[in-house]
Amino acid sequence: MNTKFLTPNDIEEAAAILRRGGLLGIPTETVYGLGANGLDPEAVGRIFEAKGRPQDNPLILHVPGPDWLERCCRDIPESAYALARAFWPGPLTMILPRREIVPDVVTAGLDTVGMRCPDHPVTLAIIAAAGVPVAAPSGNRSGRPSPTCAAHMLEDMDGRIDAIVDGGPCGVGVESTIVDLTAPAPRLLRAGGLPLEALEQALGPVEVDKAITAPLGAGEQPKAPGMKYRHYAPKAPVTVVTGPGGRTAGYIRAHLGARTGVICFDEYAGWFDRCPVRSIGPAADPDEQARRVFDALRYFDGTDVTAIYAQCPGDGGLGLAVANRLKKAAGFHIVEV
Ligand code: TXA
Ligand code: MG
Repeated sequence: MNTKFLTPNDIEEAAAILRRGGLLGIPTETVYGLGANGLDPEAVGRIFEAKGRPQDNPLILHVPGPDWLERCCRDIPESAYALARAFWPGPLTMILPRREIVPDVVTAGLDTVGMRCPDHPVTLAIIAAAGVPVAAPSGNRSGRPSPTCAAHMLEDMDGRIDAIVDGGPCGVGVESTIVDLTAPAPRLLRAGGLPLEALEQALGPVEVDKAITAPLGAGEQPKAPGMKYRHYAPKAPVTVVTGPGGRTAGYIRAHLGARTGVICFDEYAGWFDRCPVRSIGPAADPDEQARRVFDALRYFDGTDVTAIYAQCPGDGGLGLAVANRLKKAAGFHIVEV
């Protein structure tokens, strides 16, 4: 298959691809997604093939606004509407009980479905023109870092999908925050582009799923099936170093080998002579780190490094999401200094 490059002017052509059951790369504010008609089980099945995604990992539905909640979900709590008013369109996915109209292949057989309204004018226009909810995981091959620009998505998907719409680089850079609203107490299943602090301001206290900050023990199942898979991992093994910036940079410098790569904050980029370095933004700016973290993880696959060390932000704001992506890339191999 020849993957076509579309521009933001090609809304109708993009929508037609979705309507006829094709696969479309779509820009969102978080990361690029691999979209298909979410009501067409065969089209959705092709997403799993193109990504090499395990069948037990459900997809989220992208909709143009809150009026789609009733069509896809039931027993919707008032808190879901409040969150939609506060944060949609935006980087928030809500898990809700699903209706029959949502095919089993979307939810991997679960009786719940993830709902998201992305904050990207081009993709909102495409979804509205297609007239269907769009099932879309991140547009990477399974296990790889999520794509934050069209070129990264093409790296993974060229020849596997019908087209990709180039909507420019993603403004947020990490995937949406996922909150489960199906139990009496809201629970954070994935830290993402909407900070936990903002959710808690709207909802009150939110429980944080253990899988976000720690590796799962044998036999433990996360509430978001995708959290159990090795993810975002470059080819070379990653070690995350946590602690104050000067100390972590010093630790990394003392452990550099002949072919070591470093992911660091801007302030420390000059500390690591003669090795490939990717800085991800100032230590105090987790929003910028979020925009750059997946690019950094991808970068090292084009080098000959055999080990990667990464500095890691604290948990405030988007730091929780950035730290989670780095720790997952490291398989939770973490050194505290
Ligand atoms: O920002 C995003 O959310 C991006 C863009 C493209 O919208 N999409 C994305 O999708 O990150 P994906 O498939 O890569 O990650 C969705 C996560 C997976 O970990 C999946 O297991 C979880 O959401 N998930 C989906 N449906 C669920 C459900 N019903 N219950 C619990 N977790 C669910
Ligand atoms: Mg993904």
